[in-house]
Amino acid sequence: MCGIFGLVGQEKGLVSKLMAGLSKVEYRGYDSAGICISRPEGLDLKRAEGILDNLKQIVGDMEDGYCGIAHTRWATHGPPTEENAHPHCDPQFRVAVVHNGIIENEVQLRQILIEATSNTCFKSETDTELVAHVLAQEVDAECGDAIPDDEQLLAAWRRSLDRFDGSFSLAAVVKGREDVILVARSFSPLILALNDAGYLASDVSCLIGMVKDVFFIEDGDWGLLRKDGMELFDSEGEPVVRESTTLQWNEEDAELGGWPTFMLKEINEQPGVFRSCLQGRLSRDALRGVKISFKPDLVRIIACGTAFHAGLMARHYIEELSGIPCIVDHAHEFRYGTPSGPKALVLGISQSGETADTLAGLMAAQERGYPTLSIVNVESSTIARQSDSILTIRAGPEIGVASTKAFTGQVLGGLLVALRLGRLSNKVRSEELAVINNAARRFPNAMERLLASSQLEKGLKRARRLFHNQDHAFFLGRNSSYPIALEGALKLKEISYIHAEGYAGGELKHGPLALIVDGTPVVVISSDGIIQQKLFGNAREVAARGARVIMIAVEGDEEASAHADVVITVPKTHRLLQPIMHNVVCQLLAYHVAIDRDCDVDRPRNLAKSVTVE
Ligand code: M6R
Repeated sequence: MCGIFGLVGQEKGLVSKLMAGLSKVEYRGYDSAGICISRPEGLDLKRAEGILDNLKQIVGDMEDGYCGIAHTRWATHGPPTEENAHPHCDPQFRVAVVHNGIIENEVQLRQILIEATSNTCFKSETDTELVAHVLAQEVDAECGDAIPDDEQLLAAWRRSLDRFDGSFSLAAVVKGREDVILVARSFSPLILALNDAGYLASDVSCLIGMVKDVFFIEDGDWGLLRKDGMELFDSEGEPVVRESTTLQWNEEDAELGGWPTFMLKEINEQPGVFRSCLQGRLSRDALRGVKISFKPDLVRIIACGTAFHAGLMARHYIEELSGIPCIVDHAHEFRYGTPSGPKALVLGISQSGETADTLAGLMAAQERGYPTLSIVNVESSTIARQSDSILTIRAGPEIGVASTKAFTGQVLGGLLVALRLGRLSNKVRSEELAVINNAARRFPNAMERLLASSQLEKGLKRARRLFHNQDHAFFLGRNSSYPIALEGALKLKEISYIHAEGYAGGELKHGPLALIVDGTPVVVISSDGIIQQKLFGNAREVAARGARVIMIAVEGDEEASAHADVVITVPKTHRLLQPIMHNVVCQLLAYHVAIDRDCDVDRPRNLAKSVTVE
């Protein structure tokens, strides 16, 4: 979850380049940050609690050097204080380490270190500090006080890594060796690149605009990064060469470009995401690029957070269009369960492609012999490379911690998978494909119209007022609008810190109704036909108990206003696509409520963009 960035061989502007890299990876963790510059005279460390701006204020006078490592933290061990911020050093300041992941044998290691050296003192509560102590100890064992040569460094690094259990991406600098950074990867992403310097990062988006090609090192890889090359070994200690991949995203894609926040920018990018996700894949009479070669008896979807809600949408599509039963699990529940089904297809969904639980779930499925397909945004991610086949959503970099445009892409990915399964099951005929294709062609323009409409602006203005001084809110949906209710509640809670729950309308009387009091905001995501009437009934039930109802309905729905305090309408589209349109209103509602409460929507407290630890 933490962000790592490092540079070796950057003779001018090292500090400012490290800070620029860190700012691009800050979305992976922002409770503290730090950098360490390695110079011949020693290691120079600066760290600060809180967001990156706090670190920026104290690195202004820092001298450049030849090599440095930097880190933004999402706390796993110890609170977000300066002492717990990375990089961490050994007591003699011989090595400095940045780390993403968890060293699982921390307790035993700490004990061994204390027993081995009577004067061992730890300055932080982190597991990472132990890595620094161990590495310094191993360097000392190799060469005493002398500066280690390559062979000694590699031997010390290898022996250190052998002592760690768990997941980690690590980068370390060693006093006197400004020409190299030690690197290692174990179940946590780390990317290397070469250009005017040697680069390392936990995330490709950090490298956009700095390099063209990147090297995705594999789990178990470790070695040295230099200005103009790398020396890598696999877990057996055998030398390995990893292929480079060309980055697909542009620098502008990962910048604000005039928008006040990434979240608002990304919400507004959704019409474009819709177009590019379907481009070349869906046409009047054909479906391309969804690689499923057999008709499974069962589809098991695994995902977390917003991607899980997209999975619930995909289940609706799959069961309706193909008749194949589908189970959706949180990846963290699935990975320790016992998946069954003789001919199951396991479908992973992940924006980042780095979510530890989703990755572990897919690997568990593969071990049991199930074919895996993943819907991902980051094409070069670990999940993408691990899966048997992938469907990329082509959403471009998503920087806002609250996932928005990725959801639209993931739902469309689910629809494409369902259509492919529907074709394999002979249930989706060409005529139906043509109808969906026609609706899909018109959809992005309709969404653009919605995003620009004064009706939306006015509706949101009235709706957001209903959240003033409220601590709880509810979202109701039914059938295919139920996942949108869950997603709407997640968006609101994660960025505004208002407690919000999504419920299927039919569940209301089974408990949640007890929570409705005078003024409680309830967002009702409309549907159609009989379901719509049932939702109106739910709206009446909560209103009768004092709730203030915000209804998201389709244009022309004359009845909606009779059941709500505020109605926000969206353009009518194909039944299967309608929930995507409704969701945009939920995203904007959460956004504005959070802004009204002065929340940092791009950096919600306690969260980070990709959850790379369990
Ligand atoms: O990168 P992934 O799609 O695998 O991430 C899954 C969740 O961590 C993510 O959707 C999270 O719930 C977002 N903060 C929701 O806005």
